[in-house]
Amino acid sequence: MIRIEKFSEKNVEKALALKVSDEQLKFVGTVPEIVESMPATGHKHVVLVGDEVVGFFVIDTVYSENYDFCSEGALGLRAFFIDSRHQGKGYGKSTVAALKPYLQQAYSQYSKIYLTVNCKNRSAYRCYLKYGFTDTDELYRDGAAGPQYIMLMETA
Ligand SMILES: CC(C)(COP(=O)(O)OP(=O)(O)OC[C@H]1O[C@@H](n2cnc3c(N)ncnc32)[C@H](O)[C@@H]1OP(=O)(O)O)[C@@H](O)C(=O)NCCC(=O)NCCS
Repeated sequence: MIRIEKFSEKNVEKALALKVSDEQLKFVGTVPEIVESMPATGHKHVVLVGDEVVGFFVIDTVYSENYDFCSEGALGLRAFFIDSRHQGKGYGKSTVAALKPYLQQAYSQYSKIYLTVNCKNRSAYRCYLKYGFTDTDELYRDGAAGPQYIMLMETA
C-alpha cells in the first residue's frame, strides 16, 4: 500500500506541506529546513499512498563521515516521519518494513543502515525495533534533544 519514491519535482509541493505535531518537532525537522540544509549526499525520499504524499525520509550516503559509531560504507536513515494527519494508520511500520527490500534494490552496494532515535521517542523506537532494526545497546549523546538509541539494520 505504501510506495517509496525519490523526492522530485513531481512530489515537491506535497512534500513541502507535510507536518508533524509541535511536540514531535524536536525529533525531526521540517521539510523546508531539511531541503535547505541537506547536502546532495543526503538522498531525500517521500512515502506515498496512492497519489497522496504521507511521509518523508533521507538516506544519508556519507553518514559514517559524521558519526563515529557508523562503520565506513554504511548508510544512515535521517528525518523519517509520517505526516501527523496520517499517523496511526500503519504507514510508519509499512515504510520501515519496506526499507530493507528498497535498499537492497536501490543501494545494493551498502550492507547496513544506522539511525539514532531519541530515548524519549518511544513510539518511533518501538516502530523501528518491531519492523527491522536492532538496538545496538549504545547511546549517541550529542543530540540536541537528549540521548539517542543507536539502531542498525543489516540489508545484505
Ligand atoms: C514514529 C512514526 C514514524 C510512526 O508512524 P505511524 O504511521 O504513526 O505508525 P504506525 O501506525 O505504522 O505504527 C507503527 C508502530 O509504531 C509504534 N507506535 C505507534 N504509535 C505508538 C504509540 N502511541 N505508543 C507506542 N508505540 C507506538 C508501534 O510499534 C506500532 O506498531 P504496532 O501497532 O504493530 O505495535 C510517527 O509517529 C512519526 O512520524 N513521528 C514523528 C517524527 C519522528 O519521531 N520520527 C522519528 C525520528 S527518529
